[in-house]
Amino acid sequence: MSPKWQIGIIGVGMWGRVHLDSVRDEERAEVTCICSRTEQTVKAVQQEYAIRHATTDYQEILADDSVDAVIIATPPHVHGDVFVDALRAGKHVLLEKPVSSSLDEAALMVQEADAHSDLVVLEASCRFSRLNPKFAFVRNMVQKGRLGDIYFVHHLQLKPTTYTEYNPRAEWAADRRRAGGGPMFDWSGYDFSFHLGVLGDRHDLQGVRGFAVNGLRPALGPADPDLVEQHAAALLQFDHGLHYYYERAGGAYGDVPDDTRIHGTRGGLRFDYLPWGGDVVEWYTESSGGKVECRELRVDMAGYSGEHNTELIRHFVDCLDGRVAPVLPIGLAYRHMQMVWRILRDS
Ligand SMILES: NC(=O)c1ccc[n+]([C@@H]2O[C@H](COP(=O)([O-])OP(=O)(O)OC[C@H]3O[C@@H](n4cnc5c(N)ncnc54)[C@H](O)[C@@H]3O)[C@@H](O)[C@H]2O)c1
Repeated sequence: MSPKWQIGIIGVGMWGRVHLDSVRDEERAEVTCICSRTEQTVKAVQQEYAIRHATTDYQEILADDSVDAVIIATPPHVHGDVFVDALRAGKHVLLEKPVSSSLDEAALMVQEADAHSDLVVLEASCRFSRLNPKFAFVRNMVQKGRLGDIYFVHHLQLKPTTYTEYNPRAEWAADRRRAGGGPMFDWSGYDFSFHLGVLGDRHDLQGVRGFAVNGLRPALGPADPDLVEQHAAALLQFDHGLHYYYERAGGAYGDVPDDTRIHGTRGGLRFDYLPWGGDVVEWYTESSGGKVECRELRVDMAGYSGEHNTELIRHFVDCLDGRVAPVLPIGLAYRHMQMVWRILRDS
């Protein structure tokens, strides 16, 4: 057996630990180094996972010639510096979403990735979207013309709770400067990756009309432009006659599960695109009797582990092995970020 890929994880908070578990499931790779901001966290995780090297200075990992690749799982405002330094140190990178908390910084990160085209760079928002069998299933229906010309996509999810309530250690998550944004910003990478990807990534954004608000729950404080949005929605107008209504909330008065609808001139689909959202896709089409009927199609999820982060690590290692190209290059993730930036900053 060829030697295992040696991986360093920078940021071992809530999601860095998920990566630790996922790499354990992958026999072609192992985590040899970890980094976190505090000595206390990094030593505790080192002991729990029996990791060779633990540090509070990520440069130590980048200077280690035995390390082939790094996973960046720090808060978004720290992604940029670590990413650029990692590529300059010759490391392959799996970058957590969102690309960055700043659009300007994200643009520089794309330039840096372009300057290191010999290295694998994968952005993590393919995890719930393009690596999920529902993506290929829906894209295939669109490509085969089962829906006709797509003129409208509608996606909605509302939650009453925020990221900070979900991960109380993430004190950065309510701060717009460090997080970049709230539920819409946090999830748009997954959502755009799925919804625009099944349409072939061919649409260019022409116009946006929407809103973004915070200050909705007294327990979380008054409205404040320095805090992330709690509820945002927009109607996005693309070329080729496509409109996309997009809404997300975390910390608002509502609780609506993920729901996607895709409407074409010959049919429509309704489904929850997320990997844990079941295997049914509803297909609305006209029967030979002239009535609109709904067929429940089942997506073949065999071969999909259901462990979405394990699938992400497997794809990253497949990229390192040279078997496939990254399904979500950073340039595409940046395009998605530009779109959400227009909603949140220009609305
Ligand atoms: N929590 C989730 O459910 C989840 C899911 C998917 C993706 N993500 C993404 O993962 C990333 C981390 O999120 P989280 O929820 O794990 O946050 P977290 O706050 O729980 O963990 C962040 C980690 O980064 C470390 N860190 C911060 N600054 C650092 C620095 N300068 N150098 C080294 N380490 C530093 C912290 O010490 C901590 O270990 C974010 O980009 C987030 O969007 C999180």
